[in-house]
Amino acid sequence: MIYASFKSIGAYIPTEVRSNQWFIDRMDTNDEWITKRTGIKERRIASSEEETSDLGAKAAKIAMNRAGISSADIDLIICATISPDYMCMPSTACLIAEKLDRRDVMALDISAACTGFIYALSVAKAFIESGMKKNVLIIGAEKLSNIVDYTDRTTCMLFGDGAGAAIISATQNKDEAIVDIQCSADGSQKDLLLTPSVQSSEASFMQMKGNETFKIAVRTLTSDVQKIMEKNSYKNEDIDLFIPHQANYRIIKAVGDALKFEDKQKVLTVEKYGNTSSASIPMAINECFEDGRLVKGKTMLLDAFGGGLTWGSAIIKFNG
Ligand code: UT7
Repeated sequence: MIYASFKSIGAYIPTEVRSNQWFIDRMDTNDEWITKRTGIKERRIASSEEETSDLGAKAAKIAMNRAGISSADIDLIICATISPDYMCMPSTACLIAEKLDRRDVMALDISAACTGFIYALSVAKAFIESGMKKNVLIIGAEKLSNIVDYTDRTTCMLFGDGAGAAIISATQNKDEAIVDIQCSADGSQKDLLLTPSVQSSEASFMQMKGNETFKIAVRTLTSDVQKIMEKNSYKNEDIDLFIPHQANYRIIKAVGDALKFEDKQKVLTVEKYGNTSSASIPMAINECFEDGRLVKGKTMLLDAFGGGLTWGSAIIKFNG
């Protein structure tokens, strides 16, 4: 039997720090409102020379290095993004393949908004367990500053840029395997969070009905975790790190409290990076790896929600 294991993590954090003051200087807002409503103090912004594929390729190189493999060993590249370098083609995964010096590899993008990394994980697992691929590079990469409307004070301060990547590899050892992943979508709620279509005369900036999205996010993130934990007979004490999508501190707190996770289990990066959509979970996993909270054998619970609507969760043993 072949299983999929989570071998390594890497991230690229752009160097420019954009604090709340940047927004205060440009629009009718204040630090107290942003901090209280979102928990965000700073976000990172990519430079004009860096596109989404550059961020993704940099994160990918770190993940490959930590897994002890080269790009020649990768047989599938999946990039989750809602801010691709090009509108429809070529895919950002193709551009990343080029930046990793690969000319003959299967490469595709996934469009599942903030749930993109969990969707990518699920596709990687299926390809590996079917025996079709051995080493899959999955990436969540976003240059959201390209699609944020900086005249919309209700959404623009939420988002930042960044990328995270992971290597998912085949193993025959069940103890090293990803335990479970579940992904869902409901297109009937498409109007809550969208970028206008390419045919539209409106500029292609992200639009969000924040307050409605907030309430559905809390409900969905909570029930999705309850479902995956129950299905796999997992209890809270079986989880070392609860790593939810980093959209808003109040959402994470409400979900974490409802699920009764202890503070030491909850991973929070939203204060420093804001919401980086598909990159938020792998960037948070990377932070845990770099500060020593994530070591081989630890169990992570991932949980995400985003435009589509899409949502998903995963229970993963880290095999790095
Ligand atoms: O990643 C995918 C999923 N994303 C999410 O789940 C994000 C979901 N939404 C949110 O994070 C929150 O809804 C926001 C942070 C966007 C907004 O927080 P809220 O508590 O839902 O605020 P609200 O939209 O209900 O607005 C409350 C008030 C309004 O004033 P009135 O009508 O009560 O007088 C807004 O005009 O806050 C006002 N407001 C602002 N005030 C100062 C809105 N934006 C700002 C601002 N600064 N930037």
